[in-house]
Amino acid sequence: MKLSANDFIQRKGVKPIPMLTAYTCPVARGIEEAGVPVILVGDTVGMVEMGFESTRDVTIEHMEYHIGAVRRGAKDTHIIGDLPYLTDANPEIALASAKRLMAAGADSIKLEGGKLDVIKHLVANGIPVVGHTGLTPQTAESFKKVGNTSEDAQRIIDEAQAIQDAGAFMLVIEHVPATLGLTITQSLRIPTIGIGAGPDCDGQVLVINDAMGLGDYWPPFSKQYAHASRTILKVAREFVSEVETMEFPNNILQFTGTAGKR
Ligand code: KIV
Repeated sequence: MKLSANDFIQRKGVKPIPMLTAYTCPVARGIEEAGVPVILVGDTVGMVEMGFESTRDVTIEHMEYHIGAVRRGAKDTHIIGDLPYLTDANPEIALASAKRLMAAGADSIKLEGGKLDVIKHLVANGIPVVGHTGLTPQTAESFKKVGNTSEDAQRIIDEAQAIQDAGAFMLVIEHVPATLGLTITQSLRIPTIGIGAGPDCDGQVLVINDAMGLGDYWPPFSKQYAHASRTILKVAREFVSEVETMEFPNNILQFTGTAGKR
């Protein structure tokens, strides 16, 4: 059953919320089958799938394409669509962008930072909004942890409160000290979802490529539950070898009964 914004608010303090990113149909299908209640189609797609140096290269068309693919794989899961860089530059541009992502299949929209006028305008127009504070990659100068000084921590606490007050139903907190993740989580009535924000947030999100061990760099706060890059290497090497020795396709008759099954 697809959860609504209100369902996630009700879940705060009751049951932790697992969230994974997804960008493609088969991955989304597996995530839904595993019972993950919310998928983020993040603009991380630009870095982990498209080979860009920055999420700033992601366009609204890229996001529509990936949200559509994820929706086709996960029909019954709440999908958050990320507004790419500058597509939330002002309330009117943000609303037009958000409508495109909702039409592509998103149930709610995430945007980075304390753009309170934008959040209020989206909410007033019936778009459920997820905030994002702490490290905000679209505008950050580096990917280092933020909120280390008391002034910066207070800035993030104030921003989190303001994002909630503007009408967001959920807040992603990225790469801050665990104590700050706890303080914000305790002070808000909406659920916080941490990524490198300690164990006390109301939920945790991982980029699926990091969780699968797909790629060649994973942030220190992530966990690799598998090593997909190694699997790709193994598959490709075996394939090369078998084609060159003409074992494949002669040997596929040995593998009876697997075609069409996972
Ligand atoms: O774009 C994204 O995937 C994100 C997560 C890192 C939270 O914003």
